[in-house]
Amino acid sequence: MRVLVGGGTGFIGTALFQLLRARGHEVTLVSRQRGPGRITWDALAQSGLPSCDAVVNLAGANILNPLRRWNEAFQEEVLSSRLETTKILAKAISEAPQRPQAWVLVTGVAYYRPSQTAEYDEDSPGGDFDFFSKLVAKWEAAARLPGNSTRQVVVRSGVVLGRGGGAIGHMLLPFRLGLGGPIGSGHQFFPWIHIGDLAGIVAYALEADHVQGILNGVAPASTTTNAEFAQALGTALGRPAFIPLPSIVVQAIFGRERAIMLLEGQKVVPRRTLAAGYQYSFPELGAALKEVVA
Ligand SMILES: NC(=O)c1ccc[n+]([C@@H]2O[C@H](COP(=O)([O-])OP(=O)(O)OC[C@H]3O[C@@H](n4cnc5c(N)ncnc54)[C@H](OP(=O)(O)O)[C@@H]3O)[C@@H](O)[C@H]2O)c1
Repeated sequence: MRVLVGGGTGFIGTALFQLLRARGHEVTLVSRQRGPGRITWDALAQSGLPSCDAVVNLAGANILNPLRRWNEAFQEEVLSSRLETTKILAKAISEAPQRPQAWVLVTGVAYYRPSQTAEYDEDSPGGDFDFFSKLVAKWEAAARLPGNSTRQVVVRSGVVLGRGGGAIGHMLLPFRLGLGGPIGSGHQFFPWIHIGDLAGIVAYALEADHVQGILNGVAPASTTTNAEFAQALGTALGRPAFIPLPSIVVQAIFGRERAIMLLEGQKVVPRRTLAAGYQYSFPELGAALKEVVA
């Protein structure tokens, strides 16, 4: 397959690129930067879709960048970097003389309302209560294509655990120093997935003709709380992990609205992902973390 991947230069994109290449696919990236094996968003918007069999979008400004203040300018960038890239790809697909077979967008479980009691699968309601849930609803709407000549898949991802990036990239140093621990109360759910499985679900969605619609991108054992996650990360590193990060510190660093992403969580189950036949490489948290910190 010839696969076009928007935002494929990042944390998840790098893992997906390697997996797709290992499975014999040809990959072209869409990036803001020119380079070998890449086209730019401007070129795509002007010249249309290059000849390809499948398209993925992973582009988006990093929401949990602690160096960026959560102000209007950054909120606009978080929104437009996702909506505009998704619209450019959806338009290019719908106007292509030969439409690709599959179109996969990765969004997030922030679609579902944080709760200590509710359990969400892909058919659960959401997308209508705070900045992030509304962002996911708009993002998924921007991807929707008329007709069904291209299979459309949305993977709602949990926190992606992998080497060299993502949320765990910020946590490793304090945890290695024995200064890690739960965030806030620690009671909030922590929906997670190993990066190999997120890339695996995207690749499966591209390759398997029967997959369409929403798939939750979380591990099947993803009913972990934040405190359990902290404990498991401490164990994987052979370090104590008792020092909590108080809510007030998280709010000071990230701003109240963004801090919700860390201080609250959802219990999410991948019902459709499992029903579609995807087989997880890292269904258990302990093994997933061992691989990440090895
Ligand atoms: N990591 C997670 O835990 C997680 C969880 C749920 C959902 N997601 C979603 O999955 C997608 C990929 O995540 P990731 O962790 O791989 O992200 P990432 O490492 O931050 O990279 C995403 C890519 O997006 C492009 N990008 C960054 N800022 C942009 C901007 N302002 N305008 C256009 N493009 C921009 C960059 O590509 P170029 O520099 O080449 O343009 C970057 O390599 C994101 O949409 C994210 O929201 C991630």
